[in-house]
Amino acid sequence: MHFSTFAACGLAAISSLSSTVLAASLTRVTDFGTNPGNAQMYIYVPDKLPANPAIIVSMHYCGGTATTYFNMNKLPALADTHGYIMIVPSATHDNNCWDAATNATLTHNGGSDSLSIVNMVKYTISKYNADPTRVFATGSSSGAIMTNVLCGAYPDVFAAGSGFSGMAYGCLAGSPGSSPQSADPACANGQHIYTPEKWASMVRAGYPGYNGTYPRMQLWHGTADNIIKYQSLIEQVKEWSAVLGVEFTKNVTNTPKPGYTRMIFGDGSKMEAYSAQGVGHFVPTDEPSVLSWFGITS
Ligand SMILES: *[C@@H]1O[C@H](CO)[C@@H](O)[C@H](O)[C@H]1NC(C)=O
Ligand SMILES: *[C@@H]1O[C@H](CO)[C@@H](O)[C@H](O)[C@H]1NC(C)=O
Ligand SMILES: *[C@@H]1O[C@H](CO)[C@@H](O)[C@H](O)[C@H]1NC(C)=O
Repeated sequence: MHFSTFAACGLAAISSLSSTVLAASLTRVTDFGTNPGNAQMYIYVPDKLPANPAIIVSMHYCGGTATTYFNMNKLPALADTHGYIMIVPSATHDNNCWDAATNATLTHNGGSDSLSIVNMVKYTISKYNADPTRVFATGSSSGAIMTNVLCGAYPDVFAAGSGFSGMAYGCLAGSPGSSPQSADPACANGQHIYTPEKWASMVRAGYPGYNGTYPRMQLWHGTADNIIKYQSLIEQVKEWSAVLGVEFTKNVTNTPKPGYTRMIFGDGSKMEAYSAQGVGHFVPTDEPSVLSWFGITS
């Protein structure tokens, strides 16, 4: 390569890098309220916010941290563009996996990580005047399992979830832990196969007497996932279609990218699932689809 061409490429790379540098930064918050799961709260608050911003809770995979996961997708840069707050928690136990197994985490106001995260949300709503009707959960692997847990146990807090390569709410219930090292492997191996009604009754038992609507669900899974088997998507689909009262309507192939199939349930407003052909663990976050599902972009 001629030197001047090389220099020009380098300059282009530097200027495109500087244009994506974030204005604000990921910041630790220690005084967010009771913290039964001993989770760490980090927050990303863009410099420019609308009057009542939405909140996205973004949860890491096992072994991850708030910082590693924050840097792993474009949701922070898009927070600057679209004006939402990100809560990025860190798990501190069980190989940095979120607790999706104990009765406490699965039960509304029961304790553990789910209540810690909900207390982070309540703190953020109060401090930044955020919109309590636009609180969303997303994550990858353990973070996607936790998305299911939060949507099941706190349907009054979360308006929608988007989980990448997770497990159904309750799939790890009673397991000695939630990490690959500590969990009963039956769920990850796709051996907890239940009826839609059984899954739905587990979700409802997480918040007995709740009368309101459940969060809208967007679920992603790779067909070649060897860590959490593809059967896990089928079980999540059974669970949330029963909870939300929607049935499979149609497939749209090669959406949002080649090899992905979008499965639409009902009219597509309450639930959709994406099967990623040949993709392993875990499916990369598809930011445009997530933001559109959350109603942040159209
Ligand atoms: C979970 O705990 C609640 C009280 O926090 C209790 O009412 C419920 O029976 C427990 N569920 C299971 C499955 O142990
Ligand atoms: C269910 O609805 C009743 C009547 O509107 C209300 O009193 C009760 O608090 C609701 N229960 C829950 C768990 O939201
Ligand atoms: C829809 O797509 C999924 C994922 O590829 C596939 O398993 C299912 O059989 C398809 N359903 C129909 C009716 O084509």
